[in-house]
Amino acid sequence: MRIGVVGAGHVGLVSAAAFARWGHQVVAMDSDPAKIATLRSGASWFYEPGLQELLDETTAEGALTFSNDAADAVAGAEVVFVCVGTPPLPGGGPNLSFVEAVGRAVVAHATGDLVLVEKSTVPANTGRRLEQVIGRERQRLAIPHDIAVASNPEFLREGAAVGDTLHPDRVVYGTSSEPARDVLRAVYARLVAEDGCPVVETDVPTAELIKHASNAFLATRISFINAVAQVCERVGADVAIVAEGMGHDERIGHRFLQAGLGYGGSCFPKDVDAFAHLARQVGYEFGMLDEVRDVNRSQREAVITKLEAELWHLDQKVITLLGAAFKPGTDDLREAPAVHLAHRLREVGAIVRLYDPVALPNLAVEQPDLQGVEDLDEALHGAHAAVVCTEWDEIRAITPHRYLATLAYPIVVDGRNVHDPDEMIDAGIRYHSIGRRSVETSL
Ligand code: UDX
Repeated sequence: MRIGVVGAGHVGLVSAAAFARWGHQVVAMDSDPAKIATLRSGASWFYEPGLQELLDETTAEGALTFSNDAADAVAGAEVVFVCVGTPPLPGGGPNLSFVEAVGRAVVAHATGDLVLVEKSTVPANTGRRLEQVIGRERQRLAIPHDIAVASNPEFLREGAAVGDTLHPDRVVYGTSSEPARDVLRAVYARLVAEDGCPVVETDVPTAELIKHASNAFLATRISFINAVAQVCERVGADVAIVAEGMGHDERIGHRFLQAGLGYGGSCFPKDVDAFAHLARQVGYEFGMLDEVRDVNRSQREAVITKLEAELWHLDQKVITLLGAAFKPGTDDLREAPAVHLAHRLREVGAIVRLYDPVALPNLAVEQPDLQGVEDLDEALHGAHAAVVCTEWDEIRAITPHRYLATLAYPIVVDGRNVHDPDEMIDAGIRYHSIGRRSVETSL
């Protein structure tokens, strides 16, 4: 099939390369000339394990090409995937103007019948809105082609995007158009034949809701275990063992029960807010989601409370944050707990240093007022306390001895529960973690 992909970001570029791998002819379009120039030179503009190899393979075969012009992605295409950004608006809802613009561009450049597929995470009802825009534009421009709308949400994780796309847990698509359904079946035919993943075929709003509900549910699990961690701390229980014990129940499972500083990234924070916003718009107060967000925020405040218990006030105290990225394996700082915490600490007068093995170049660009330190020992040296924010292997491997040899005061708040509490406390560290054994604080 001839496929256009509009938006060559994390979702769009990885999806475009996967479509090309499955035997389709794909044009990936992005309005940012710098990104397209990088892609045309043969490199990805962001790092994702396995992506470069997939791009090398699919571009060498000529199955995947890049353009700055929407017309190149749309003209001749049987299906166009919308993978543009939906950044949050101040009121909590996503900005859908880029999605609407793609709808209009598709009508303007279509050369035959086609299916417009939303892959960007959008509120349930965007499909209907797109149908409305397309209907009006077709009439205005007297376009004879049939343009059907479908939703095909994406569930890929950063850092595992290629594997998640080539071997997904499931493929979900929704449309009310029979021909559009056949087109989507053809798009995924090779994946389903070779990988055997389950397919959920449904209507557009149901497909959109599957995405909302999946991300909100995963975020809820994280906030649930973080709330349990708060209780664990107060009764002297160990949340890691509580989670392990819960996870053995097959109905619960082990994943996404890691207590810590909470979730960040480009999806969960935005999606939880967007789902709550959507529910409110349609007349349902989804208060549970507000609580999920509040618990997530309070995890960072809890770190400040622990630091104050040790250091009294934080004014002019030097605090080293270990890890800046929102999770290991990425340099993405969007909604990173470490960045939030850094700003909160600065509000209360602390001097904050951030160490991260890969995200410091991004930090310099996106958070120029935060201080990154490239060497781990230098970042720790003379600080009044260290806080583990991202569970990079290099940070997991820090020994009590290394903390004792570098920090001014041996105070460690382990926001990702990466260290062994007994080992740390026995070595003389004033060690605090999330929902597990910590040193006694009497003040
Ligand atoms: C997520 C979803 O997993 C993916 O399906 C969706 O398409 C996009 O959003 P991603 O944002 O890449 O993917 O990261 P993920 O690995 O899910 O982690 C999200 C955040 O939750 C991270 O900050 C991570 O540290 C945190 N997390 C995750 C926890 O705090 N505890 C856990 O048990 C799991």
